[in-house]
Amino acid sequence: MITPDTISNIMSAARIEEVITDFVMLKRRGTNYIGLCPFHNEKTPSFNVSPVKGIYKCFGCGKAGNVVSFLMEHEHYTYPEALRFLAKRYHIEIAEEVQTPEKIQEQNEKEALFLLNQFAQKYLEEVLFETEEGKAVGLTYLQERGFRDEYIRKFQLGYSKEGWEDFSAHASGAGYKKEYLVKTGLSIKKEDNRLIDRFHGRVMFPIHSASGRIIGFGGRVLSKDKNIAKYLNSPESEIYNKSKSLYGLYFAKNAIVAKDNCYLVEGYTDVISLHQAGIENVVASSGTSLTQDQIKLIQRYTSNITILYDGDPAGIKASLRGTDLILEQGMNVRIVLFPEGDDPDSYARSHRSAEVEEFIAKNAVNFILFKTRLLLTETAGDPIKKSALVKEIVNSIAIIPDGITRTFFIRECSSLLAVPEQTLVNETNKILRKKFSKKLQEEGAQTYLEPEESEPAPSQIEFELDTAEFQEKEIIRLLLLFGNESVTLKQPTEDGPEEEVQARVADLIVQDLLRDEIRFESPLCQQIFSEMAELQEKGIIADKDYFLHHNNPILATLAIDLTILPYELSLHWAKNHIYVQPETDRLLESIYPALYAFKAKKIERMIAENQKKLKEMKSAKEDIEEITQSLMQQKRLEEIRSRIQGKELGRTIIK
Ligand code: CTP
Ligand code: MN
Repeated sequence: MITPDTISNIMSAARIEEVITDFVMLKRRGTNYIGLCPFHNEKTPSFNVSPVKGIYKCFGCGKAGNVVSFLMEHEHYTYPEALRFLAKRYHIEIAEEVQTPEKIQEQNEKEALFLLNQFAQKYLEEVLFETEEGKAVGLTYLQERGFRDEYIRKFQLGYSKEGWEDFSAHASGAGYKKEYLVKTGLSIKKEDNRLIDRFHGRVMFPIHSASGRIIGFGGRVLSKDKNIAKYLNSPESEIYNKSKSLYGLYFAKNAIVAKDNCYLVEGYTDVISLHQAGIENVVASSGTSLTQDQIKLIQRYTSNITILYDGDPAGIKASLRGTDLILEQGMNVRIVLFPEGDDPDSYARSHRSAEVEEFIAKNAVNFILFKTRLLLTETAGDPIKKSALVKEIVNSIAIIPDGITRTFFIRECSSLLAVPEQTLVNETNKILRKKFSKKLQEEGAQTYLEPEESEPAPSQIEFELDTAEFQEKEIIRLLLLFGNESVTLKQPTEDGPEEEVQARVADLIVQDLLRDEIRFESPLCQQIFSEMAELQEKGIIADKDYFLHHNNPILATLAIDLTILPYELSLHWAKNHIYVQPETDRLLESIYPALYAFKAKKIERMIAENQKKLKEMKSAKEDIEEITQSLMQQKRLEEIRSRIQGKELGRTIIK
């Protein structure tokens, strides 16, 4: 672990304007520097660097930070990686705190495996380009497939010779330990202790980590013999964890950020062919369905995934698998099916680059609509199958984090499935509420569901500034007063004019909060909310008329306070004293700000909590990894905050 002293040496030596100039052209303006923002597209510079303050800020997209966060953002370095980069640039020696012998041993071993893989890659590439067998068999094959030398070099492809011990003998001869040859999986130990090659007679695809080191290999057989597996891959090792790596990510990450989209394909060859066609924001899951860790990896760079798969039935099924997992992470998922018989690789080879781009743009369909249409053709005329389909679709909709997006899918699917919208809304709420109460139960938070004796009557409660009480009450107030009202939402569609959709206020708010698993800090507010959500499932919207006569007098008092008496919560209210019906015309103007103020407050509190934790960890000299984790969490929370502050507030179009 890098010592705190070294960190402060690095931070005082690093000059932000110098470091950023390595990546961005800056011009001096007064005491500051200005340039074109590397984080968004712009023609007039709004990216500012202040040497005095040691920070950068873009007035266009809002990105801001210090020299370390710049490197983390721009180069996708981790915290320690950014520090090491700066130490090197400013010739600062890194003092590391003594680690346990086991840790050092482990680190050394990992390093040895990396070095061996690097050695293997160089050798295999040399065999491919320089030896008779490599050229005649491997290189010819790759060239016949249409791979150009430039890209064969870029992806560091190689060739492993026929025979059993070419590489093992070569590596042993160069001094590499048997132990490591076996651990990387490059060699296999026979009973008589002899080492033989895992890969022979195969074209070799190195697999890179996100930072570009080689963690394993995939080898493609060249014979058409159906009894031999087409691809053979390195086994898992201390440095290669299949479910945590994505083929091509190292070559794709900058393009993914620039395009704010990641194409997901099946295999090695799809990735390389798309690169050749000029499409670089592409990674491969290597034949398996995506894992949570892989999605997280992509999410570091974008929240948009477009899945490009073969148009055969197996490809379609494959594209459905794992997608719920992606939706759950709040990612936008789209799907492109290639014409039957084509995969991205073959399509990219038989079409011009512009045609490939155009095909993808034209054929990308939102995942939920894709799934609905696809399953619909399978259930034609079968009511039992259809109700199963409705459940399945609603399940997918329920995991979408954004409320407005959900409302739109509910509407689209309602017309596709010919099922009333309200049915889908109720089904969605049912799922959300089940999940939420399960979660509360797991946390043993049954207090929300039982009357709180100790809580003072609401009218006596004083506001504490650092609680979310103000925001919580505003939400409850809106629900009580306007739960039964309808509002019209508008959302721009992907390829046409805006769409309009009606939604009930209670549905909108309740769903939004359930989905984000936001709970109220005030037990009373939570109780009212839970009861509303429960009744809503039965189709009852419990508004003020219900709660004013509630048999729990504490709840009734709160409802009265919030809806009848002049209440300081709302500026509106303070002005008018009584809500008059015409106000409902502009309901969304009250709802969205309230909803987002509430969420923003929650986020603030989570950020504060995390900061506190971070501080404690730093003074307790916790592991740098843990601190990095916490810093990443901080970044994520701040992203959510700016999403809430910026996009969400600005985008609702009100009628
Ligand atoms: N794969 C694998 N093991 C296999 C078959 C496939 O690991 N026995 C993985 C590889 O990562 C491969 C991906 O699944 O790239 C997709 O498989 P496939 O479509 O069969 O391979 P392609 O990459 O299309 O290879 P090619 O075009 O050379 O047939
Ligand atoms: Mn293929």
